[in-house]
Amino acid sequence: MAKQTSESASQPADLTGADQHSVCKVALVGFGTVGRAVAKILCERGDGALRLTHIFNRNVQRKKQDWVPREVVWTEDLESVLNSDADIIIELIGGLTPAEQIVRRALESGKSVVTANKQLIARCGPDLLKLAATHGAQLEFGASVAGGVPVLPALRTGLCGDRLHGIAGILNGTCNYILSRIENARVPFSEALEEAQAKGYAEADASEDLDGGDARAKLAILALAGLRAQVAPESIRARTIRPVDAVDFDYAAELGCTLRQISRAELKAGKLFADVGPCLVPADSPFGRVQRNLNLVLTSGQYGGDMAFLGAGAGGDPTAVAVVSDVMFVAEGLAGPKRAVTNSVATPEISCDFETAWYLRFFVRDQPGIVAKLAQILAAHRLNIDSLLQKPGFDKASLPFVITLEPCADSQLRPALEEMSGLEFALRPCLCLPILR
Ligand SMILES: NC(=O)c1ccc[n+]([C@@H]2O[C@H](COP(=O)([O-])OP(=O)(O)OC[C@H]3O[C@@H](n4cnc5c(N)ncnc54)[C@H](OP(=O)(O)O)[C@@H]3O)[C@@H](O)[C@H]2O)c1
Repeated sequence: MAKQTSESASQPADLTGADQHSVCKVALVGFGTVGRAVAKILCERGDGALRLTHIFNRNVQRKKQDWVPREVVWTEDLESVLNSDADIIIELIGGLTPAEQIVRRALESGKSVVTANKQLIARCGPDLLKLAATHGAQLEFGASVAGGVPVLPALRTGLCGDRLHGIAGILNGTCNYILSRIENARVPFSEALEEAQAKGYAEADASEDLDGGDARAKLAILALAGLRAQVAPESIRARTIRPVDAVDFDYAAELGCTLRQISRAELKAGKLFADVGPCLVPADSPFGRVQRNLNLVLTSGQYGGDMAFLGAGAGGDPTAVAVVSDVMFVAEGLAGPKRAVTNSVATPEISCDFETAWYLRFFVRDQPGIVAKLAQILAAHRLNIDSLLQKPGFDKASLPFVITLEPCADSQLRPALEEMSGLEFALRPCLCLPILR
């Protein structure tokens, strides 16, 4: 870190904790939604402790803003950024290529890195953390999960004294927007998706969100940071929300529940139980009350019990706050000697074999003997029916009804579902959802 100039010496008090007479130089890689908001905060802070030196982006000319100080270098030459005297590189271009290379090269040259890139951290986080440690640099990724909700910093500092055994969250704002929209307006799934796309809450190809890929990458990062478990995102089962129908909210309401996409990870006897997908949750529970595109993360610890973190999981400004907070945290570390106390990371066996109660929804062509046939299959697999729900008024040619099951392991239920999939009266595959109480 360079000495502070006379220009910044007269600025307001430094609240970062960084040395009063030093300035931390910061280079921004990626000037999109989040990068622009980060630049704005850095330029408006004006306390002299953090100084933006470079802004890198492809075709950078079109990105230039008159509110950025003239000293800042706008560039599309990555080498000039990596070879500069910047202390911290903020990576905000997203994706794996070339972000991974940029982050690796920055760390190898001893620069610390702050990123919001969930794909990169979910796939390469443990490796990059090692690389950072080897080169005396820091890697922070607080905005990579739940955007502006400071759950990762809480895991790193406020909760690291506990021994966490469970993390569950609503981690995908797109899914939550769609599900809470169906809940409140009873619109079909396709209409809720179109609305989300029109409002900019869902991309044109929303598969990563709807089918759980986005949430399981975030869950892998939470498992690493909170449960000290290294897990490849692909090894976490992801179930899609696409088959959820407005009628499922009617039946869920009968059970005092609603539906949300829940990502959950639990450490039990050295195994990591993990799953992402739609679940029934009590309507009056913290998860049941999360509306629109908000995120909620709940942690369970051996000593501290349960904690909740709620807020904006995306958006330029909230995410930029998380990024700048990470930059300030790193800058504090750069200001003085630091002793690292790290917890070891395990690579546990991954399982999705949770034991829960279950919601099975069928769409059938009505005929005598349907319930008897389903009950026979369930009994043959030693599965106990808890309730049978059938709302009146539906067309008999496409009749939805629900069976709920008493708690049993996922693995005990799967063969019964397999057997049910071949029944000639079933119009759609049975929708099978965990009921979380
Ligand atoms: N947006 C959110 O609410 C949010 C929330 C949490 C985390 N994040 C994460 O934050 C990161 C940035 O997201 P964002 O929403 O700001 O993305 P964005 O709006 O697409 O911005 C990315 C920027 O990087 C530039 N870029 C992309 N590839 C490049 C390359 N190969 N070389 C040079 N420049 C390149 C883009 O330039 P062009 O303009 O030419 O495309 C764009 O300016 C991502 O990792 C994202 O997952 C975002």
